[in-house]
Amino acid sequence: MKTRLETDFAGITFKNPLVLASGTCGFGEEYAGIFDVSRLGGICSKGLTLHARPGNSGIRIWETPGGIMNSVGLENPGVRDFISRELPKMKALGPAVIVNLGGHSIDDYLEGAELLDAAEFDILELNISCPNVKAGGMNFGLKAETAREVVKKIRAVTKHRLVVKLSPNAEDMAALARVCEEEGADGISLTNTFLAMAVDITKRRPVFDNTYAGLSGPAIKPIALRMVHQTAKAVSIPVMGMGGISTWQDALEFIMAGARILQIGSASFMKPSVSLDILEGMQSWLEDQGIGGIQEIRGIV
Ligand SMILES: Cc1cc2nc3c(=O)[nH]c(=O)nc-3n(C[C@H](O)[C@H](O)[C@H](O)COP(=O)(O)O)c2cc1C
Repeated sequence: MKTRLETDFAGITFKNPLVLASGTCGFGEEYAGIFDVSRLGGICSKGLTLHARPGNSGIRIWETPGGIMNSVGLENPGVRDFISRELPKMKALGPAVIVNLGGHSIDDYLEGAELLDAAEFDILELNISCPNVKAGGMNFGLKAETAREVVKKIRAVTKHRLVVKLSPNAEDMAALARVCEEEGADGISLTNTFLAMAVDITKRRPVFDNTYAGLSGPAIKPIALRMVHQTAKAVSIPVMGMGGISTWQDALEFIMAGARILQIGSASFMKPSVSLDILEGMQSWLEDQGIGGIQEIRGIV
């Protein structure tokens, strides 16, 4: 018996639950010459901002045992350029298209979302883990009230299905997820990277020009899994789970913890086609177990 991996997420059909995570696959095309990306359930764009950004100075990626730290700084071509140049190519790849939007002020988010509203794609993923320059760099995603404001305003200007991507550094993720649901989000995705640091002892200074950077990869998996579990139990909208998924066993853990869709990020840096290994591993395990559809194991723990 072939297990059905097809998954509905807020009315969008994903042919399987595997999606390339924001910031780790460009716009999908970068991997298209390496493996058959059309077999994936979805592709999430690099985080976009209203205007193009060159990204951060200095070291941007630093390996750590079991993970990587990044301080890319949302390098991207800006929303307008994305719509005219990247989106048509992304859509032609086949998988569902998720567009990730960041912002450094409410106005930036709003203008970006308004421009994207005229474009056709499947899901708008709102990255609220960005520093609010008007509030002294305080991250929008840390407190329920700032998250509420940005989600409410974006909801009012977008026709797209809206998924809010949470920061694991939030004060209370489950409470924050409930606020997003109250304000009309169609889904939640988590987690983004964990705030981390490395010191160059020879230079006697932080490795990153911004001192702190985001940790991802296997090192964060057990914590991300716990957060996905708590969040999936706290809301009735569907959850996209991510954080350190590198093997098909990891993927099944996230599904059993309540995630409907999975995003694969850092693991693709070790092996670009790892998502297909995960897909095949999941499929054969589920078939060995005699499971007819992936929903049979979703949220069972
Ligand atoms: C190099 C790099 C760049 C990233 N850029 C973004 C981004 O632009 N927007 C975003 O929402 N998340 C971004 N992320 C976070 C990932 O999408 C993902 O949430 C996180 O890395 C956890 O998943 P992983 O452990 O599988 O990588 C980035 C991660 C990495 C490693």
